[in-house]
Amino acid sequence: MTYLTRRHFIRKAAQLTGSGYTAMMALGLIPEAPARTLNLPGSGNGKRIIILGAGMAGLATAYELGKKGYDCTLLEARNRPGGRVWTVRKGTKETETEGTEQTCTFDEGQFFNAGAMRIPHHHESVIAYCRELGVPLESFNNTNEGAYYYSDGGTGPLASKRIRQRELHSDMRGYTTELLAKAFDQSALDLPLSPEDREKIIGYLVAEGSLDATRLYKGSSRRGYSVVPGAYDQPGKMADAPALLHLIEAGYLSPHFYNVPEYTYEQQTTMLMVPGGTDRLTDAFVKKIGKKILYGAAVKEIKKTENGASVVYQDQKTGATRELAGDFCICTIPLPVLSTIANNFSSDVQRAVDMVPYNDTCKVGLQFRRRFWEEDDSIYGGISRTNMDITQVVYPCSGYLGKKGVLIGCYNYGSTAERLGNLSLPDRQKMVLEQGGKIHPQYGKEFESCFSLAWQKIPYSMGGWAVYSPEARQRYYPAFLKPDGNIYFAGEHTSYLTAWIAGSFESARRTVEAIHERVQRGGASASK
Ligand code: PHE
Repeated sequence: MTYLTRRHFIRKAAQLTGSGYTAMMALGLIPEAPARTLNLPGSGNGKRIIILGAGMAGLATAYELGKKGYDCTLLEARNRPGGRVWTVRKGTKETETEGTEQTCTFDEGQFFNAGAMRIPHHHESVIAYCRELGVPLESFNNTNEGAYYYSDGGTGPLASKRIRQRELHSDMRGYTTELLAKAFDQSALDLPLSPEDREKIIGYLVAEGSLDATRLYKGSSRRGYSVVPGAYDQPGKMADAPALLHLIEAGYLSPHFYNVPEYTYEQQTTMLMVPGGTDRLTDAFVKKIGKKILYGAAVKEIKKTENGASVVYQDQKTGATRELAGDFCICTIPLPVLSTIANNFSSDVQRAVDMVPYNDTCKVGLQFRRRFWEEDDSIYGGISRTNMDITQVVYPCSGYLGKKGVLIGCYNYGSTAERLGNLSLPDRQKMVLEQGGKIHPQYGKEFESCFSLAWQKIPYSMGGWAVYSPEARQRYYPAFLKPDGNIYFAGEHTSYLTAWIAGSFESARRTVEAIHERVQRGGASASK
């Protein structure tokens, strides 16, 4: 690792404390984003703005400031825009830190979103930009009752047997409502309820859990059939529900199988996606912004000056170093990268840059010669979940019935992502195929090619997204919310919508408003 050890330590600590599903779920406690289009009065009068990073925050600020007559230059270290919005297709190349070069060999038309893939329906700022830029949206199947749960290990008759999500959901609703109905029936719960109210609650529980006339859970058609109903003499045969004990023994009550997508605010239906790849949203911004983006421009130094800011960057093609001066600078560089760049930030900002941890996260795209998950398993989009390191298998929710397909054979976070990321590329592929093969035995025969990435090792990102503990939110976060001289900060890490595109957009809008307001008040001179 070449970046600062302080950051490295923080990342480790975050993984030990707050990167599992429970921490992910905690991200759900955030306010709804307001719907609006920026309509600012006045003009930017050609003031020069240097924007660092052409990810979603950088692109949105350049787009908005461009509308107001600012003269923006975007410095982007990579040779592509989008940052963590990145769609991997045939020919995509990447070399991780300490890694070897990968080139994607998927067929033409096949792809997966290595970064952002899904948009909550209440992330209005994202939807507003899609509307404004003419980018279509379609449904993203985040939940699929027909997808699998697979608990590896455990004991009993269900040990290491995949089950459909509808089965576990129905069974656990059934068994828990049965217990509750019993408790209410026996007045065992000390609640101030009349007998009629108790009956109403029991009626609700019976319906919620699909209990029988004796208020017991004996399975239901909700969980599916062992013989599906058909024509003529085929009424179908309901599958028997397993005993609660068997689900427990097999490991299906572990947090890996909690119903996160249905219950978490950001993951509830309907989730949306950009058809054809999330990078189409990036492209739409780039088309509007035009030639203002300098690619291959790696920032080496950021300085606030008396009346503005100055940035030193290195042209990655020629190795030449250049300096650019502006009235303002908007820095959207992810913190693990920013902490390696020379600067004269205030000590509050420097500390925050070093101390806010980022999550490790991996995605591995696998191309198969046949869409066996559709053909053999009736799975159209959605996500299978497992307690193995691969954590999730994300099925494509487009191109149904196509000949080939790419699914995401691993999407994990935290310590599991750290482990996978530390493997060589061939070892990652082996592990993902082995583990995924336990859920889908067809893997071995149908696999064609693989492209994997560990975001903590992707240059110029060096992490998935910022993870704030309540303490870090209190101590460090405020440093990013005000300008440091004429330098402003934007990006998902400067929002309460961390790990979402909406965080980048919301912070971009706030930054544009703040700069514009300052310019309207009287120019670029640094405020104290
Ligand atoms: N927004 C990212 C995703 O959709 C990261 C994330 C995962 C955020 C899970 C919250 C919960 O996968």
